Amino acid sequence: MAGPAPVRRLRPLAALTLVLALAPGLPAVRAGQAPRPAERGPPVRLFTEEELARYSGEEEDQPIYMAVKGVVFDVTSGKEFYGRGAPYNALTGKDSTRGVAKMSLDPADLTHDTTGLTAKELESLDDVFTRVYKAKYPIVGYTARRILNEDGSPNLDFKPEDQPHFDLKDEF
Ligand code: HEM
Repeated sequence: MAGPAPVRRLRPLAALTLVLALAPGLPAVRAGQAPRPAERGPPVRLFTEEELARYSGEEEDQPIYMAVKGVVFDVTSGKEFYGRGAPYNALTGKDSTRGVAKMSLDPADLTHDTTGLTAKELESLDDVFTRVYKAKYPIVGYTARRILNEDGSPNLDFKPEDQPHFDLKDEF
């Protein structure tokens, strides 16, 4: 008598693909293939300081951007915090990492420079970075300082925050 029909076992690669496709929050990347444009999300840009400065909320219909730890966030949906005349408008149009770490709006602190911050301030920075910025706002790019070395060559240690598909070669 014939036994039960053999259960077809998924090949390991197929199983991994299935897990990736079903896991919430993970991009549906097919094994071995570059993601299609629709799966890549909006394109991500490199921002020079001058470019970032254009998005400080001065103009009503312009998006508002700010950077923390070299990651440029679109904070337009937080207009009540960041728009013109709003309490944290000073943080916009630049990398305000130090100000966020110290919870300071002192112009001297509105810089990417983290030199001399205390362990507590660095911890607070990571907390706000993850729980406020990454949780609430889309990433639209990275500062040139984060992506490039001082001589303009690509920084090979660059790691995008939550865009596993992001590849310097594709973007620039
Ligand atoms: C008297 C001083 C301050 C008070 C009472 C205050 C109060 C608040 C409150 C209530 C929120 C949460 C708002 C919400 O989620 O609806 C908030 C968010 C925030 N505060 Fe302050 N704050 C003060 C000073 C500062 C300073 C000096 C900074 C400097 C960087 C700062 C940076 C932030 C940031 C980055 C957020 C998150 C905004 C967002 O969700 O995008 N705060 N603050």
